[in-house]
Amino acid sequence: MTDMKPSILVTRAIFPDVIERLAQYFDVDDNQEDLVLDSGALRERLAGKVGVLANAADRIDGELVGALPQLRAVCNMAVGYNNLDLPALTAAGIVATNTPDVLTETTADFGWALLMATARRVTEGEHYLRAGKWERWSYDMLVGMDVQGSTLGILGMGRIGQGLARRAAGFDMQVLYHNRSQLPDDVERSLNARYVSKAELLQQSDHLILVLPYSVESHHAIGAAEIAQMKPTATLINLARGGIVDDAALAAALRARKIFAAGLDVFEGEPSVHPDLLTVPNVVLTPHIASASEKTRRAMANLAADNLIAALDVGPQAGKPPTVVNPEVMARRR
Ligand code: GLV
Repeated sequence: MTDMKPSILVTRAIFPDVIERLAQYFDVDDNQEDLVLDSGALRERLAGKVGVLANAADRIDGELVGALPQLRAVCNMAVGYNNLDLPALTAAGIVATNTPDVLTETTADFGWALLMATARRVTEGEHYLRAGKWERWSYDMLVGMDVQGSTLGILGMGRIGQGLARRAAGFDMQVLYHNRSQLPDDVERSLNARYVSKAELLQQSDHLILVLPYSVESHHAIGAAEIAQMKPTATLINLARGGIVDDAALAAALRARKIFAAGLDVFEGEPSVHPDLLTVPNVVLTPHIASASEKTRRAMANLAADNLIAALDVGPQAGKPPTVVNPEVMARRR
């Protein structure tokens, strides 16, 4: 009799060599055809599986967890894990992991790109040019807001927020931030960042960038009331998760020029985008690609695979998945 390998599911297409790595240890049900698995399909494909390499768009909720008694590890290929019902996973003794650190700089770079594009109207300018509207120079054509020398506000000062603060130093910016907890003095000093209340952040930022995790508490952290406190010349960048911004309220505010412009990489209910955002000119829209460099996506896939292999007690790091988000489960297993 041959030894049976444990079965796992990889919910979406990933690098073939990562599938091969997983296949050394597991019987892999892959999805290299990259069909989107809705909750019913996910449930069917997960039946009998002990682990899953998931994507931030796969909802793993309490009901699904309850239907999958064999499941032992859920490894997200994303730093955010609001797609997972963490209390349900923890209660069921299922290890959950994410992919922090490997995407920090790539994501901060993209935040910077979105900030620059938004403040300086890069995509609006391109649309204008492609539409054949560029006929002559004029002093006020597509004038934007300066980034250099302005005040950057960062809501959520984790790894990516700190990466943005480091970039701001090269642009001689004043950096303000608000976070659940204030950073230690030495970290604040090294980033040249000042802790302020959320109200001050809204009122004083020339450019406000959101990099906080999505949760019940951060749902619509930026809505009409918050936008009303911002400068009419301000820009707002959402690099974090859809749902942190009330997209309908933002679209209305952009149309009414309550703020200057916005740059959004994430959306409520994505891949659907609020129809009003598609028709206002002063918004830069990108399809959730902040971590999308070849090198970083490889690193994320490999880290998710490392987590899955180790969480299922095989491979060189057996029993020690590197980036666990519910460490109490690992502690209980020991
Ligand atoms: C992407 O959105 C991530 O959380 O990594």
